[in-house]
Amino acid sequence: DNIFIDYSNAMIKKEELKAIEPFVSKAHNLLESGKGLGNDYLGWIDLPDNLEQEELEKIKRSANDIREKSDVLLVIGIGGSYLGARAVIEALEDNEKDTEVYFVGNNISGKYINKIMSKIKDKDISINVISKSGTTTEPALAFRIFRKFLEDKYGKEESKKRIYATTDASKGALKKLSEDEGYTTFIIPDDVGGRYSVLTPVGLLPIAVAGIDIDKLIFGAKKAREEYSHNSLENNEAYKYAAVRNILYNRGKQIEILVNYEPHVHFISEWWKQLYGESEGKDGKGIFPSSVDFSTDLHSMGQYIQEGRRNIFETILNINDPEVDIEIEKDEKDLDGLNYLAGKTMDFVNKKAFEGTLIAHVDGGVPNIIINIPKMDEYYLGKLIYFFEKACGLSGYLLGVNPFNQPGVEEYKKNMFALLGKPGYEELRKELMNRIK
Ligand code: PA5
Repeated sequence: DNIFIDYSNAMIKKEELKAIEPFVSKAHNLLESGKGLGNDYLGWIDLPDNLEQEELEKIKRSANDIREKSDVLLVIGIGGSYLGARAVIEALEDNEKDTEVYFVGNNISGKYINKIMSKIKDKDISINVISKSGTTTEPALAFRIFRKFLEDKYGKEESKKRIYATTDASKGALKKLSEDEGYTTFIIPDDVGGRYSVLTPVGLLPIAVAGIDIDKLIFGAKKAREEYSHNSLENNEAYKYAAVRNILYNRGKQIEILVNYEPHVHFISEWWKQLYGESEGKDGKGIFPSSVDFSTDLHSMGQYIQEGRRNIFETILNINDPEVDIEIEKDEKDLDGLNYLAGKTMDFVNKKAFEGTLIAHVDGGVPNIIINIPKMDEYYLGKLIYFFEKACGLSGYLLGVNPFNQPGVEEYKKNMFALLGKPGYEELRKELMNRIK
């Protein structure tokens, strides 16, 4: 009854695993001793054990306040400041929700903002603005717009009581603004980077507002911290996953496709892509993380996976128990010819699609790793989050990169600021304007 890796379809040999074992052990020692690259960002490793009770109580109190006074929580954040919360909320929330969570500030689309505004205009609203640096343009712009929206609706004083800021302990424009305005504030620990921050107030506050039990989520992560701390390939599922994907990468499989068969876990893949893409894609190296939702995408990307370039492998999130299902009934006339499925459930059909696709793709030369997950509840999702984080840290060290920085994301920002005419970017602006001409 645990998350476990099945690599029997990954087309790797026992000897290959044996050969990578010493490297896994070395990477483990680097991670756990805190002596590797980026070691000032290792706070996520012990986060499940280090969360303070007082902080958790404050999160729950604020979540209750928000749920009592608002129909809608607007979460303003981008990248690691929203993907974890969105992944957990979409994977776990049921349809009966009293407070809905909307995500804004993760794009620069006026059309998107307008659409959200018209949806929420007659509802009661609170805002959770999340930015570790406190200076990221996308959420800062959205916050300026929605702060005004709130003030027009409730006036300045009431608005302040409806705004919750999650940011750095001391730096950044958002910190300053929160202090000046007196918002309820949550701190993102210095040693936890954005993409590893879902188990801090960054993720926990919106998740709690959505009515999800954060204690169970954290308990799952705590268990994972125990289980995935063994320096052993045999007894550590997270390391097994990291090792197998690196063996495949070294053999020219540069693209990993994360596969799910349940639409509600779509955003787990989005979160995973950020975690792995930002952590590993640097120094001219790294597996390119991509994702598909099956069986939907079997009718689009399925063709490429079956017969396109053989530089891909798949990792399947296989949720054993869907918890909610539908039985297929017998039809008197059987005009659609589906009576052979009468008495079976949708999940039965879904699992057959999974098994059939697995064999087809393996026959087509695509190695498959299966991550078996008993069910998608708070406990197992907490575990899965930590599983992926630990595997990612280890995988980055196996690859020889710093998995905790993201220098590459600055490049577009510089150009955008210069093109927008931000003070301080005059020289670059001239250069870029010439290139655009
Ligand atoms: O993982 C990361 O560090 C990034 O994706 C950040 O989360 C993202 O850029 C948002 O940054 P901030 O929280 O500082 O606004």
